[in-house]
Amino acid sequence: MLLQTSQGQSGSAHVVVLGNEKGGSGKSTTALHIAVALMKAGQRVATIDLDSRQQSFTRYINNRGAWARRTGLALDLPVHCCIKLGETMQIADNETSEFQQFIDAVSAVEQKFDFIVIDTPGSDSYLMRLAHSMADTLVTPINDSFLDFDVLGTVDPATYSVTGESHYAEMVRDTRRKRRQLDGVCSDWIVVRNRLSMLGSRNKQLVADSLNDLSFRLGFRSIDGFAERVVYREFFPRGLTALDERGRRRAANRAEWFNQVDKPLEVHDILGI
Ligand SMILES: Nc1ncnc2c1ncn2[C@@H]1O[C@H](COP(=O)(O)OP(=O)(O)O)[C@@H](O)[C@H]1O
Ligand SMILES: [Mg+2]
Repeated sequence: MLLQTSQGQSGSAHVVVLGNEKGGSGKSTTALHIAVALMKAGQRVATIDLDSRQQSFTRYINNRGAWARRTGLALDLPVHCCIKLGETMQIADNETSEFQQFIDAVSAVEQKFDFIVIDTPGSDSYLMRLAHSMADTLVTPINDSFLDFDVLGTVDPATYSVTGESHYAEMVRDTRRKRRQLDGVCSDWIVVRNRLSMLGSRNKQLVADSLNDLSFRLGFRSIDGFAERVVYREFFPRGLTALDERGRRRAANRAEWFNQVDKPLEVHDILGI
């Protein structure tokens, strides 16, 4: 999906930003899945964590490195940078330090890598806005609920038709417009439905319809992302993703097959009894 989009400006890295002002929508989880998917597709990937307070993306990647060392698994690892919070008493000095770290981090990788994946905090800040304005692709995961939909738009309580746009959506529209005016780049905005229920439900259909409606007003694409599965919560301590899981299971099946292939077949193998 991401690979279909154009390279970043002037041969430099394509910038993918994970953004949504709502915490817990799946930004950090999706950020690592995107980074790993790109690496598995042979792309050179650098990652940046702008959520200096929580650092979930950084910890997720550190856990991945530690798990690879412990198990000997060949897990792909991006070149990662976490922006540290400024620690002086002056807000302006802290912002300057964080801004400088971010610019240095981007400059260090933009010519050497194909993609930069940037995770952002679930709160409005100068750096978060700056990252949004740099995005070639903005990915906004949202939980499949009207409470999460509310950061993008409002709906009529009787009909669920869209009645307006919310603060985060307005901020994104603003940064995309400025980017277009500044350097002519039309960034791609993808809203990814996260934690989808495996069963069809009225809520699932209503959210889908409202997102579809809003996508025309705001110019985003809406796609189905991850299902609601406990395994996404279990991945973190090992830094794993669903893509590693599939690879691990395939490797185990292959090993099992090679293990069995030279052995003579038993009658029950053939007859299935
Ligand atoms: N598809 C999913 N199924 C189940 N749990 C999920 C799924 N996606 C994310 N989670 C869990 O939801 C919580 C928030 O995810 P996270 O990626 O940290 O969101 P954010 O970065 O937006 O705050 C975490 O506990 C994470 O493990
Ligand atoms: Mg996060």
